[in-house]
Amino acid sequence: MSYKHQVAEKIASALTTLGVDTFTSENVYAMLETPPNPAMGDIAFPCFQLAKALRKAPPMIAAELAGQITGSPLKEATAVGPYVNLFLDQEDVAVQVIGTILGQGSEYGDSNLGQGRKVPIDLSSPNIAKPFSMGHLRSTVIGNAIANIMEKQGYQPVRINHLGDWGTQFGKLIVAYRLWGDEEKVKAEPIKELLSLYVRFHEEVENDSTLEDQGREWFKKLEDGDAEAEHLWTWFREESLKEFMKIYDLMNVSFDSTNGEAFYNDKMDRVVTLLEEKGLLTESDGAMVVSLDEYNMPPCLIKKSDGATLYATRDLAAALFRHESYDFAKALYVVGNEQRLHFQQLYKVLEKMGYSWSADMHHIPFGMMLKDGKKMSTRKGKVVLLEEVLAQAIADVQKVIEEKNPSLANKEEVARQVGVGAVIFHDLKNFRLNDINFSWEEMLTFEGETGPYVQYTHARACSLLRKGNYQPSSSASLTPGSLDSKEAWAVITLLNSFPEVIDRAAANFDPSQIGKYVIDLAQSFNKFYANVRILAEEEDIKASRLQLVAAVVCVLKEGLRLMGLAAPEEM
Ligand code: ARG
Repeated sequence: MSYKHQVAEKIASALTTLGVDTFTSENVYAMLETPPNPAMGDIAFPCFQLAKALRKAPPMIAAELAGQITGSPLKEATAVGPYVNLFLDQEDVAVQVIGTILGQGSEYGDSNLGQGRKVPIDLSSPNIAKPFSMGHLRSTVIGNAIANIMEKQGYQPVRINHLGDWGTQFGKLIVAYRLWGDEEKVKAEPIKELLSLYVRFHEEVENDSTLEDQGREWFKKLEDGDAEAEHLWTWFREESLKEFMKIYDLMNVSFDSTNGEAFYNDKMDRVVTLLEEKGLLTESDGAMVVSLDEYNMPPCLIKKSDGATLYATRDLAAALFRHESYDFAKALYVVGNEQRLHFQQLYKVLEKMGYSWSADMHHIPFGMMLKDGKKMSTRKGKVVLLEEVLAQAIADVQKVIEEKNPSLANKEEVARQVGVGAVIFHDLKNFRLNDINFSWEEMLTFEGETGPYVQYTHARACSLLRKGNYQPSSSASLTPGSLDSKEAWAVITLLNSFPEVIDRAAANFDPSQIGKYVIDLAQSFNKFYANVRILAEEEDIKASRLQLVAAVVCVLKEGLRLMGLAAPEEM
């Protein structure tokens, strides 16, 4: 239990002594404040809300209450006006916090909120035969971090890559390949080659308008199970997926399912039938739709006039499938903000179908990745390709390592971990709905608010432990006075708040909470390191301080892991 919770319990039981039993320790906990300056205490408890129950003025209550609150982890409680100001016994707290972390290791901050229930998370979901865009990078990175965070809270995440592997574009691609394609080229560089076929198709359409019709015909063939169409589609899908896998491997992201849009081909009729049975389908300009007038939303398109089903129909089938397969606690969709309306419509249609579980589905939107303040567009090749970004980041880090630490073991692996880490952190350090400006400088420096900075701080702390010959221990034994600096206290209070930060990150599906936290912790640790001697101290003091360092190593590593970053011990 964190020291703040312990204090809340003390106050709650003191309140019972005074005759108030309507405040649980959770109520009290929520009321606790941090005094504006540390001289006024570490925690403050305001008494205004008690005036009614006790029929007394808040300052009188504060005075009575202060006399009732004593014992570890508190040193002192004093009344100042309507507040009880509480001073922690910092040594007591240090032993508790450091001891808990050393004892629990990477399990520090775990909770069982999820009780093992499943949480399917729709993430990444790039489109076959098109490049992996920055939007898909964002979805991958944010989704993966949320999956890690949910797992830490006791849920069982199910990572689903809902591949865009179906649609009219495959008809066009087949036409383009049959006209201008080259098997060897596709094999060598599938995504580049398929994209250029797709682009060429759109260029040639300008002169030859029959191409569009041919594209439609081939897509129809594909839907009807034509052997050649199916063969080409399967091949395109496999080649693209192989190339995406290289990116996922580099980023150390894996999936529990790659059931994409095509997976639902044989599950669409059921959706249409269900909607019909429930009397929800209406006709509009020859198409079948579900009206959402009552929510002031445009209708949800289910079936086009030519009988083709749509993106939304597929997502309805996917939602039913996920509900039936996973009996989920929540179902998450990490998809760009542009698709907000689509998901609102999806949930409303499910609600109209009578599925109360639609309330457990959450769209987790995110903003755009901008370059020079402008949106990156996939068309006409005006994109920064993720593969190139990752390769460049890794190469840049490699250069730094060659300059600064050429004898480092494992150079290549460390360069990968730090280069990829820089890209991931650049994305996760800001609240996901904000647009981010793509910037090499901001991504790759070893100073400032970057992944390499946090990783470097972690490695530095690891090296301290090695140099100080730290003996791992699963509890804290601290020499009195060894951690009484304000720098040490700042680190300890941050370490203590890690579990709360995880709770907040999970409740808001917001990995940036962890990003900001690890930056704070790294900065605060670096201040401690700059101002407090460690290795040059006497044995017992050194040993105590190294225990704090070990706790920092543990929490930084776990924080980075939750975000999807590795924490190399040397760099
Ligand atoms: N492939 C889609 C795109 O790139 C994203 C799919 C998101 N997931 C979903 N279930 N609709 O826009």
